[in-house]
Amino acid sequence: MKKNRISKNWINKQRKDIYVRQSKIDGYRARSVYKLSEIHEKFRIFKGGMSVLDIGAAPGSWSQYISKVVKNVKLISVDLKKMENIDNSIQIIGDFTNTDIQKEIKKNITKKFDVVVSDMAVNTTGIKDIDAIQTGELCKEAMIFSNEILSKEGIFISKIFMGRTFNEIIELGKKIFKEVKVFKPKSSRIESKESFVICKKTR
Ligand SMILES: C[S@@+](CC[C@H](N)C(=O)[O-])C[C@H]1O[C@@H](n2cnc3c(N)ncnc32)[C@H](O)[C@@H]1O
Repeated sequence: MKKNRISKNWINKQRKDIYVRQSKIDGYRARSVYKLSEIHEKFRIFKGGMSVLDIGAAPGSWSQYISKVVKNVKLISVDLKKMENIDNSIQIIGDFTNTDIQKEIKKNITKKFDVVVSDMAVNTTGIKDIDAIQTGELCKEAMIFSNEILSKEGIFISKIFMGRTFNEIIELGKKIFKEVKVFKPKSSRIESKESFVICKKTR
């Protein structure tokens, strides 16, 4: 009964959400696309010919956007779940934290990546501290891996949840990158603790 009520609330919220409606009009698979487009508008991330790794890519709106805005992109999209194919993208299905998956990512590139984006999130428990810690761990893992595979001018963008791991993430970011900024796009729900780190230039 309680579960039904929650899912009805969720459906009603989705119906009213302007970003959900806009994503349908624009042909994107998720409203999350507008978070990446706002990040790009503010920080001028993407340029033609870039190689980009999208981690936690399913259902695929970020990869759709990257494939559209980056001419001649070399795009690798990784997720636990299979998703519908995207033009110009190589899809890898599996757990990003698994070293075999990380090896497979490296096998698919001949030079270092220009950009790594991660929207990875664990299935939320509803307990905000636990969600923030688990998603924070994924962000840290993606940051450490990015240090190996990004070019000197490389850019790393990741979802984080404001909470206990925030300071640790920023500290790690500053060890690996010269610039570390935090940004909450307008399209990120106001009631959500979600935000994004934008890190530039590996040390
Ligand atoms: C918020 S969704 C991403 C939405 C996506 N950016 C889009 O625009 O369609 C988070 C994704 O992270 C993925 N994920 C969580 N943990 C992961 C892991 N360890 N390895 C790979 N993907 C993971 C989930 O399967 C989920 O599809």
